[in-house]
Amino acid sequence: MARRRQIYEGKAKILYEGPEPGTLIQYFKDDATAFNAQKRGTISGKGVINNRISEHIFTALQVIGVPTHFIRRLNMREQLIRQVEIIPIEIVIRNVAAGSLSKRLGIEEGTQLPRTIIEYYYKDDALGDPMIADEHIACFGWATQDEMNDIADMAIRVNDFLSGMFAAIGIRLIDFKLEFGRVWDGDYARVILADEISPDGCRLWDIKTNQKLDKDRFRQDLGGVEEAYQEVARRLGLLQPEDESAVLDFDTHRKKRGR
Ligand code: TMP
Repeated sequence: MARRRQIYEGKAKILYEGPEPGTLIQYFKDDATAFNAQKRGTISGKGVINNRISEHIFTALQVIGVPTHFIRRLNMREQLIRQVEIIPIEIVIRNVAAGSLSKRLGIEEGTQLPRTIIEYYYKDDALGDPMIADEHIACFGWATQDEMNDIADMAIRVNDFLSGMFAAIGIRLIDFKLEFGRVWDGDYARVILADEISPDGCRLWDIKTNQKLDKDRFRQDLGGVEEAYQEVARRLGLLQPEDESAVLDFDTHRKKRGR
């Protein structure tokens, strides 16, 4: 098979040209970064697990009518997606105080927020993804007001759905990050959910013990990082106990074939 053309390489994923125009292949790496890539490492098997978790969540969101870029999973580390024009804004939805909110406003981590908060960050690594307001988005034309209304509506629906989905498996959805992209239909653009939803971009705590089951284990050197990602996949019914070694076997197999 001819080598595929790489379109983009991010910190945790690579995008390749897809089989048809308007499609891309999204490859999930094991690489992890934190604090604007000042901390780097690998989480063994993360790519395989995030590919599965994101497939599971995007498929369910499509069923409840949230449009997403996901088409289908191709293999252990790759999924076929629709090509979108990424809107350069990270949307963070918070239900419980943690992370930068706790730090910035001095609110104890774990405090239930009286209402859900949506925050926006400008997606620019060189600037360290600064927090922005609606005014900046309008002023610099990063998205239209209609697009921002659609994004906020979808973010709330995703939050409601995910909060319930995780609660059902004993996990509290503390906060998470979404990205959206435009697809064009003639002169009209529509906004759909893009990127991924996985323990890389969510804070997930065990409901009973408050144990962290997400990337904070890597950010804060808490240990048990691989196990935490596996635990989320296992509770979602995506990983049988015997699959845990399969995740690693797949990589060995792949390396032997030189891909
Ligand atoms: P924060 O508390 O560090 O602002 O993060 C809020 C949520 O957004 C948390 O679930 C992690 C996620 N997130 C990302 O996915 N990418 C990022 O670059 C940052 C800063 C946060």
